[in-house]
Amino acid sequence: MYNILLLGSGGREHSIAWALSKDERVKNLFCAPGNAGISSIAKSVSINILDNDLLYDFVIKNNINLIVVGPEQPLQNGVVNYFNDKGIKIFGPNEYASQLETSKLFARYIMEESNIPQPAFFECSDELEIFSLKNKLGFPLVLKADGLAAGKGVIICNNDDELNEAIDDMFINKKFGLASAKISVEECLKGEELSVFAICDGENYKIINSAQDHKRIYDNDKGPNTGGMGAYSPAPQFNNKLRKKVESNIIKPILSAMRDKGNPYKGFLYIGIMVENNEPYVIEFNVRLGDPEAQVLIPLVKSSFLDIILSSISGTLNNLEIELDDKYAVTIVLASDGYPESYEKGKQISGLNNLKTDIIFHAGTDIKNGKFITNGGRVLNVVALNKDLKSAINHAYALADKINFDNKYFRKDIASKAVKYLKEQDL
Ligand code: GLY
Repeated sequence: MYNILLLGSGGREHSIAWALSKDERVKNLFCAPGNAGISSIAKSVSINILDNDLLYDFVIKNNINLIVVGPEQPLQNGVVNYFNDKGIKIFGPNEYASQLETSKLFARYIMEESNIPQPAFFECSDELEIFSLKNKLGFPLVLKADGLAAGKGVIICNNDDELNEAIDDMFINKKFGLASAKISVEECLKGEELSVFAICDGENYKIINSAQDHKRIYDNDKGPNTGGMGAYSPAPQFNNKLRKKVESNIIKPILSAMRDKGNPYKGFLYIGIMVENNEPYVIEFNVRLGDPEAQVLIPLVKSSFLDIILSSISGTLNNLEIELDDKYAVTIVLASDGYPESYEKGKQISGLNNLKTDIIFHAGTDIKNGKFITNGGRVLNVVALNKDLKSAINHAYALADKINFDNKYFRKDIASKAVKYLKEQDL
């Protein structure tokens, strides 16, 4: 039997908690810090998840025998190394291996050594170097803060004004703090951006599924970047040919490189690719599931999610078959108007009580006087599954309309690229 501590507080963690709570081997499920939705299936724990000693006290007092890490910050903070040293089972990559996400330049150099297809990149730490690269690469030019920047450290510059503003943000105003002390300046690839999610045990891997996120705040991919405004899975654009290329040109070489570095990669690997002329190029690696991509990946997994996690820890993924529901999943993020900049919190949410049999994952919610209220930019994720993509989309939008709070905002074009693709392929 398992007493599990899950770390994190978003929609991704609600979907992980939802999957784990359905497993009869899970005796107690705790989530630190959790959110209002998670608290209906797991006990919320108010602990700073970046304080390993505090987490350890909790783990010992509550006989926790498995820790599952949702977000990247505790991985960067060495939580996996810490609990491995204590002999307590923990799921995810160690601090070194987490650099595939926590240092964009670490990831770029290791991909270069391993001949993994990626855009041209240059390490820079001052503006003069960037101006000379602008002359070489032209616009659009991508500037990426090396370190973690809450998903906001990538700026695509289309002209001199945007480039000057980005340079000011990175080096003068230090909008991203130390994360942009050095940056990766990159060629901007054009094509279809997709994500592929694999589970890895150091030696072996299994692709779980593909997905497409919608990162910009407005329809038709306009406006500033967000953490993600909706997603669907699988991405029909991720065909068998592409899958083979991702496996042989990206996943196998990166796992082999991490083994060569003495830090075999264990955990979820999120491979963000740009498909240009049918070839996949790595835009980014993340060392966790995506949010909101987890909200569509997890409901499609028919196998035990606990077994997937345990097989990664024990290095037995080769003995595991991951069974998927043969459906599309679509999630729409209901956000507070103003996100990703400033927005109001504390708005009462109505409609949730009538949706008890639907899949609604909470993100920025709280409970006040027994009622759900908004407590973040991304508030809720409504999820719909159907064999037919358009039916899944329609169902998800029907759910979005049934939930109300002041200043509710959501994108109206989630999954429309997949519909267009299927139509073009006559599928
Ligand atoms: N949705 C993008 C991410 O999780 O990084």
